[in-house]
Amino acid sequence: MPVKLIRFTPRGDERGSLVALEDHEVGFPIKRVYHIFHTASGVTRGRHAHRDLRQVAVAVTGRCTFLLDDGRTRETVTLDDPTTGLIISSMVWREMSDFSPDCVLLVLADRNYDEADYIRDYDQFRLEVERLSESDQ
Ligand code: TYD
Repeated sequence: MPVKLIRFTPRGDERGSLVALEDHEVGFPIKRVYHIFHTASGVTRGRHAHRDLRQVAVAVTGRCTFLLDDGRTRETVTLDDPTTGLIISSMVWREMSDFSPDCVLLVLADRNYDEADYIRDYDQFRLEVERLSESDQ
């Protein structure tokens, strides 16, 4: 199933909450961090897969919905909790929608930005999933 969630250890006390994200928490060496915010109403972002990149997404405020598709199964999940991360493996098609106006979506990635790693066409994504499963047999 494409949706895999991880729960981060909240280190809160009477002053408030804190979550620290390190390599061992997310399962890969963190190389790049970006955040998506001020997303316009009704917008769908993403609509791509990555050939090699691994990512973890966290809605640090607000909420948004992810559709994940590994070429066999499609699943949706709403992120609305700063202590929960969504693991997005390589070769998973993602679409993000239903952003609340206050949503800040933090994304941790194991590689630098590389346009050549993107698959932006869904049919091409399915083709590459097929090719990978044939080469695994
Ligand atoms: P894009 O990957 O299309 O965003 P999304 O998946 O959320 O729809 O990226 C939007 C723009 O930002 C595009 O011009 C590429 C650029 N960008 C970077 O320069 N560095 C990055 O790390 C990312 C994720 C995007």
